[in-house]
Amino acid sequence: MIDVLNIQTSQVKTSKVSQCDFDNLVFGKTFSDHMFVATYANNTWQDLKIVPYGDITISPALSALHYGQAIFEGLKAYKNEKGEVLVFRPMENWKRMNKSAERLCMPTLPEEVFMGGLTQLLALDKNWIPAKPGYSLYIRPYMFAADEYIGVRPSNTYTFIIFTSPVGAYYSAPVKVRVETHYTRAAAGGMGFAKAAGNYASSMLPAQLAHKDGYDQLLWTDAKEHAYFEESGTMNVMFVINDTLITPPAADTILKGITRDSVLRLARDWGMKVEERPVAVKEVMDAVNNGTLQEAFGAGTAATIAHIAVIGYEGKDYTLPAVTERKFSNKVLKTLDDIKVGKAADPHNWIYKV
Ligand code: COI
Repeated sequence: MIDVLNIQTSQVKTSKVSQCDFDNLVFGKTFSDHMFVATYANNTWQDLKIVPYGDITISPALSALHYGQAIFEGLKAYKNEKGEVLVFRPMENWKRMNKSAERLCMPTLPEEVFMGGLTQLLALDKNWIPAKPGYSLYIRPYMFAADEYIGVRPSNTYTFIIFTSPVGAYYSAPVKVRVETHYTRAAAGGMGFAKAAGNYASSMLPAQLAHKDGYDQLLWTDAKEHAYFEESGTMNVMFVINDTLITPPAADTILKGITRDSVLRLARDWGMKVEERPVAVKEVMDAVNNGTLQEAFGAGTAATIAHIAVIGYEGKDYTLPAVTERKFSNKVLKTLDDIKVGKAADPHNWIYKV
């Protein structure tokens, strides 16, 4: 564990963990006992503390509420058989958070603040990590502009918080997605690669319209022609056509997903052909029609792998091969699940033991 700076800790008197119904967890609704909070002011991170999870007081003029200077991360902690706390690739989240921060003119976080806050929080709330297969402790680090000021300029002060939430599966069944050919998630030169709150806000109306038509999520396409796939809902998207794993390149409109990277690395380890390149909608729909599309799935932290069962395109629904027949995505999901709980070898040192 990183031995940090001075983190003042004020613990809850009584833990809420015994009241938590670990068998019926809904994603994102239950929160553990504590949270880590750091403040940025006078050009430095300071006042690091762990306090009981609870409401925070903010000004109505809080800059982040008006202009969206807000970023976040998502990662997960697990327990192995010995009860040790394992976190999946947290340093990657730290690095990506700093990339997001740079894009939104926010201060970067020193490793010891991000990792120190994270490890001390997990050590304190380790009883909140579910032990059941498929369950985990979702960790939400986020940062927002904290100036009480409504002029448009980067804030001078920021708040960084980490809280955690025990979670079950993000999607309970394979998803039905629609190819989005009007709205856009991100454009070249924008902030699609950043985990910026605003990217998720702008995705909600198109997702809601798709829900009304019976779809779970969207398949986002490029802003210029709507001819190339970009992401799937809040996840990266991947296809297996013939024997090749194909995914759009992690350029400036696409989030550099940590699950995405892990899936690609495992595929390469296993000798599979992998292509990171623009993926035309036409190529995929042709492959659906001629039977060469074997698999399609979203890859992200929350769901790990979300199998795509149906693709809606130009008013018609196309049913993809049965999930039980999908060799690669089932194998990669099982392998990642096993690595995360210490049941499989970890050849790339992805596990960080707290
Ligand atoms: C993910 O799929 O990992 C996400 O980022 C989803 C999260 C916004 C709940």
